[in-house]
This record gives sequence, C-alpha cells and structure tokens, in this order.
Amino acid sequence: MKRILNIETTKYVGKKMKVCGWVQTIRSHGKIIFIDLRDRSGILQLVFTPKDEKLYEVAQKLRPEWVVGVEGKIKERPKAMVNPKIKTGNVELEPEKLEIFSKAKTLPFSIETPGYEINEEKRLKYRYLDLRRERLKKNLMVRQKVIQFIREFLIKEGFVEIETPILTKSTPEGARDFLVPARLQPGKFYALPQSPQQYKQLLMVAGLERYFQIARCFRDEDARADRQAEFTQLDIEMSFVEQDDILNLIEKIYIELVKKIFPEKKITKIPFPTISYKEAMAKYKNDRPDLRKNKNDSNELAFCFIVDFPMFEWSKTEKRWDAVHHPFTRPQTDNINEIKKNPEKILAHQYDFVLNGEELGGGSLRSFKPEILEAVFEVMGHKKSEAKKKFQHLFSAFEYGVPPHAGIALGLDRFLAVILNEQSIREVIAFPKTGDNRDLMMDVPAEVTKEQLKELHIKIVKSVNKQ
Ligand code: AMO
Repeated sequence: MKRILNIETTKYVGKKMKVCGWVQTIRSHGKIIFIDLRDRSGILQLVFTPKDEKLYEVAQKLRPEWVVGVEGKIKERPKAMVNPKIKTGNVELEPEKLEIFSKAKTLPFSIETPGYEINEEKRLKYRYLDLRRERLKKNLMVRQKVIQFIREFLIKEGFVEIETPILTKSTPEGARDFLVPARLQPGKFYALPQSPQQYKQLLMVAGLERYFQIARCFRDEDARADRQAEFTQLDIEMSFVEQDDILNLIEKIYIELVKKIFPEKKITKIPFPTISYKEAMAKYKNDRPDLRKNKNDSNELAFCFIVDFPMFEWSKTEKRWDAVHHPFTRPQTDNINEIKKNPEKILAHQYDFVLNGEELGGGSLRSFKPEILEAVFEVMGHKKSEAKKKFQHLFSAFEYGVPPHAGIALGLDRFLAVILNEQSIREVIAFPKTGDNRDLMMDVPAEVTKEQLKELHIKIVKSVNKQ
C-alpha cells in the first residue's frame, strides 16, 4: 500500500491507509495504547486495542523514536477526544498491520521542547536528532520558503541565477581566506570565495546585466552569534543602475516577502528610512541603528538603509588605509589627486541594509574606470604593478567595454535569525559550526593521512593540537 502523510489522513476518514514515521510518545489508558506517530507533516494518533492479540503484543514493545509503518482504518475521533492542538486532531488510525523498520536507542536529549535549555555542543554533535525538533524543522522550512520567494521574485524581474566557482582566488573582503592546496599545481592554492564579488562584476562585463545567486561564502574568522565561517548570501549585481535602483529593489523584495511569508509582522516605516553614515553616527552612535518603536514587540521589523560611508578607514594594527566596504566600491569623486591626497575625506557610494539593529546586507556602486580602481588600490598601499597583477582579470576585463554596475549582498542567515526571533544564526542553519569553527557531528577539521599530504606536496612541520 502507498504511504500517505499524517496530515493527509483527515481527507480519508473511513478508508484504509498506510502511514510511516517515528514513534513520538506512548501512553497507555487501561488496555488501550495511544501512540503519537510523527512524520515530516506532523503528528497522528494511533490507537492499539487488544482486539488483535498479535498486533497488540508488538505494539506493547514499541519505544520512542522507533521507525514504523502502519496500515489501518482512519476514524473520526469522538467529539470529546478531539485535540485542537494538532492538525490531525479530529482523526486517529486503528492499526491492522505494523512494520518496525528500525529501533532506536534512548536519545541523548529531549526533542519535544524548543531545545534552548540543552547544551549546544551536545545538540550540534547529534544535529540529526536536534533537527527532529519542531522548532528547527520549522526554521528550515521557513528558510526554504524565503529562498523560493526570492528566486521567483528576481526571476520575474529579469534576473539570471548563476553559480560561480567555489575553488577560486583570494578576494579582499576583509577576512582570512580558506585555502585549498592544488594537487596538480604543487605549491599553489585555491581560495574559497569570501563572496562572489569579482565573478559577479565579471558577469556584468559579460553582459548578463542582472545576476543573482544564493551564494555560499567562506571567511576564516571566529564564529559568533551572527557570524559563521560558512554562510549564505543573496548576492545581486546589476548594470546601468544608480543607488536608488538597488535600494528600491531591496525594499520591494523585503516588503513583499514579509507580506507573503510573515503576514503577522509589522514593518515600522515604509519607505524604509535612508540615513547617512554621518547622521547615524551622530544620532545613534552606530551605523546599524535599531529603529524599532517597541523593542519588546517580537513582530516589529524596522528596516533602514545607511548610505554615504567613508571610502577608507585607517587600520591602526596594519598601519594602512583599508577600504570600509571593499576596494571595488566607487568613491563619490572622480578626482584621482583628491582620492590619493585626502583619503580620509572621501565618501563612497556604499550602502548598508539594516534590520532591528543588525547589519543584513551591504553593497555599492562599483569603480568601473580602471584609473579610479588603481588609485584606490594605491591608497590601500598596493603598488600599482602588484594590484594590476593580483586583479589582472578585472583590469583586463575593464578594457573590453564595461558597463557602470552596482550590487549588494544580503546575509540570508542573519535575516532568518531576526525574523524568526532566534538569538543565533546557528538556529537557522542545518549544520552550523561552533565558535571555533568545528563541526562536532562530522568531527572536522580532522587530520588527513600521510599519503594525502604527500600527494598535495604538504608537510606538517609541527602539529598543533589544542586539546
Ligand atoms: P559584506 O561583506 O558586507 O559584502 O557581506 C554582506 C552581508 O553578508 C552577511 N555576512 C555574514 N553572515 C554570516 N556570517 C558571516 N561571517 C558574515 N559575513 C557577512 C552580512 C553582511 O551584511 N561582496 C560584498 C557585497 C557587495 O558589495 O555586493 C559583501 O560580501 O549580513
């Protein structure tokens, strides 16, 4: 018999059907055994009675989290027994056949609570069990809905979804790179992308005009509540646009997204306020102000844009000028002498997108004139020849007809954490890493064999083992 989902049983009252799933709870009332069977759609109550002796005997052996298949008649529950808390609360199944697919050990923790009270390392070690939890399953499903919405929205707006390489070259987004040794080119390395920044700009040179990607990014930095070494961006790039075109697009996406997927949420102000960096620093003392009217209201969403950032900031540790966003950002002046002479005075065509005090995204108009890009690199301490060598692909591409272009990247994990009222982005990622970037379930990073190292021409000079 073909299996149906628990949620579908309400359509088949009086019929014989098959359901499959995990035994969630077992309750006995006198001789009757009630079992809550869980599948991806929810809970269904099974009712075993001693009528069928053999079946009843097997049912008595069932334990939580065993995986079973059950065939039987769907019955309407007596009025007094209806459970309004579950979607299948008006029906139950009277099993006629029971198959045990697999047994289960006692779980290391309860999966029936939201789980915040459980040690997180333990949850991450047994993430596949942690994900059985209703809250996390819901988070993953909401994540999928948001991604689907974004995809459909952007495709309708004429965007093309394009995958860019994961094995690539180091991109200066401000963090350390993860490096991958190249077996076939001894001594050489790929870097995992900190973002698809340069590829998306090259796609503009290629004439695609409207690009997007749900892109995985890799930054070798310590993880925090709002940061993972590996995270996901909604990455966008457009040609022949101004700042307002990008901001209007983002505003439209988020307004419609909230309306469709989170109708219970209220947006504080539409159009989203646009505040200059200078004003934000003066008024709120930070560049990601929380503009909610009532910070205790879990359904309030205060979006805003911060614009006109400084182009450069002085790094005290490195003793050099760094780009506030990244070097591909277009300064607000074309005057090369001015850029080189007074870097501290130069503003950038950069914008950040903020929600409830969290930086959700950032982007900029790009320098598409090679001489401006050169000047920016020079201020940042790159020798002209070095910069040209390192970013030769961009400089070279810009010689073949480059459109003015601009873009933005939005942290998907951060948005989901805020909108789902989660304290950490780990709660919206299926398999997140710990603060020191370990995957406790897979037990990585891990050592590799001598043969693998040899093949990669790598020698571990000294093994550093923290434990
Ligand atoms: P930026 O570096 O500002 O811009 O990143 C954009 C957004 O990505 C999210 N984000 C992160 N989320 C989780 N963990 C992290 N470690 C992490 N780092 C960043 C944030 C951030 O606002 N290429 C440019 C965009 C562009 O110019 O188009 C970029 O990556 O929400």
